[in-house]
Amino acid sequence: MTYNEWLLKAIEVLNQINPTENGKVDALVLLQHATGKSRTQILAFDDTEIDEKVRLKLTALLDRRLKGEPIAYILGEKEFWSLPLNVSKGTLIPRPDTEILVEKALQIALEKLEENPPHFSILDLGTGTGAIALALSSELSPLCQKRQILLEIIGIDLMPDVVALAQSNAERNKLNVKFLQSRWFENITGQFDLIVSNPPYIDAQDEHLHQGDVRFEPLSALVANDAGYADLRHIIELAPSYLNSNGALLLEHGWQQGEKVRSIFQENHWEMVETVRDYGDNERVTLGFWKK
Ligand SMILES: C[S@@+](CC[C@H](N)C(=O)[O-])C[C@H]1O[C@@H](n2cnc3c(N)ncnc32)[C@H](O)[C@@H]1O
Repeated sequence: MTYNEWLLKAIEVLNQINPTENGKVDALVLLQHATGKSRTQILAFDDTEIDEKVRLKLTALLDRRLKGEPIAYILGEKEFWSLPLNVSKGTLIPRPDTEILVEKALQIALEKLEENPPHFSILDLGTGTGAIALALSSELSPLCQKRQILLEIIGIDLMPDVVALAQSNAERNKLNVKFLQSRWFENITGQFDLIVSNPPYIDAQDEHLHQGDVRFEPLSALVANDAGYADLRHIIELAPSYLNSNGALLLEHGWQQGEKVRSIFQENHWEMVETVRDYGDNERVTLGFWKK
């Protein structure tokens, strides 16, 4: 069987089982992964015969995709903020939505860095693959180095294997972020200029948990008590003790949670509380500043 023959067959079955997904993209990505060839090499030499070992591997990969497993878990990686990140079933696959949080955090960080402080520190709670912390490090490290500002970025996660995953991503991308295990603030000492988090915020009863990619992701990364608000509330209540004066907390949340999250910030006496919308005009990130 040639590359082209396999592609045609794979696209047909993928489109039959899952007409809403892009079968052609998935089939090509799986073929690239199994053969180690680039997209161009595959398309330019599409009459190449696939050997038996690779064909068996392809059958197994296609079978996983046909069962709905996300491509990122099958490949073991996903790009976020142009950084290639290892992913595992222990945590969330980073989403493009989360780039909104990174953009807003960067805007605030850059304003604060204008004052040329001697050091600047960021804490990422529930870091998962390390996506947010690493994206911030990739942007801020060169600037801080140039201005001789000591930059410290720490990412924490509840799950030790997820902490190891984030560490592997720091090494893969040659970025200087410290990752440690902690249940939210439990193992944290010191104070930060920015705290960022994309915590679990889905209600355990939410029907979306049974649909699409989310079915394969761990509940520990998705679900929170109190209709999805327990972790958001916990972080909003505790963060002031871990922030420098005029420090900011930025939280990603569900598109229908903006109003309630703003009210939790306000009940806890945060200032300049605002919600940022994503490119689909949905409320996805709420932030506040803590004045001492
Ligand atoms: C929604 S995922 C976000 C992952 C990553 N920050 C991202 O945006 O792709 C939430 C993460 O929080 C972690 N987590 C859940 N409960 C936690 C807790 N009590 N303390 C620390 N981390 C926790 C999960 O293991 C998971 O990695």
